[in-house]
Amino acid sequence: MAVQINPSILSADFARLADEARAVEGADWLHVDVMDNHFVPNLTLGVPVVESLAQATGTPLDCHLMIENPDRWAPQYVEAGASSVTFHVEAAAAPVRLAREIRAKGARASMALKPATAIEPYEDLLPELDMLLVMTVEPGFGGQAFLDIMLPKIRRARQLIDKHGLQLWLQVDGGVSATTIERCAEAGADVFVAGSAVYGAQDPADAIRALRGQAET
Ligand code: DX5
Ligand code: ZN
Repeated sequence: MAVQINPSILSADFARLADEARAVEGADWLHVDVMDNHFVPNLTLGVPVVESLAQATGTPLDCHLMIENPDRWAPQYVEAGASSVTFHVEAAAAPVRLAREIRAKGARASMALKPATAIEPYEDLLPELDMLLVMTVEPGFGGQAFLDIMLPKIRRARQLIDKHGLQLWLQVDGGVSATTIERCAEAGADVFVAGSAVYGAQDPADAIRALRGQAET
């Protein structure tokens, strides 16, 4: 399966979001970090900004909701134009119902696990999803160091996906860069979020090409 590189606009200039979105048009998806200052200690953007971004770029939006009560809010992000919506299982009251609702509205349903959340209790939920996100930093901020101790969890997630014969993307997010992406790919990830490694580069489009090359080898 081809790999996907998803630059995170958390590391972009928020005053020039449309331009920053266009600067990474070689990307597969644009990763949009929604934070509510409750689920994580940081605040970013919400539905109206996603709606405008969806108009401003042809790149599909991959919305990562780091918010309380995703059961209520996630469907609104699909309506705003997100092609993929990720909710955190730690915050969801009814993850199966929510995943089904996201899919029914026409988006890719994805579930995220914080570093301390084990994958095993959610094995039976995997068929309800299009993507699983294994966080490789504590969610909340860009530019943090990659947590190597998450590599075994990525491996276990890949084993479970394969064991059930599922077509499920396995995404990693946090500290993914030229120095860590190969380890993630080797462990079984195939969708790579990169914030600072893309927007901190001289040429974001070049950085995407380089990361893709590394992940494919
Ligand atoms: C962190 C966010 C990430 C963040 C990654 O909570 O979910 O998407 O933008 O940034 P880097 O790639 O700089 O770790
Ligand atoms: Zn994210």
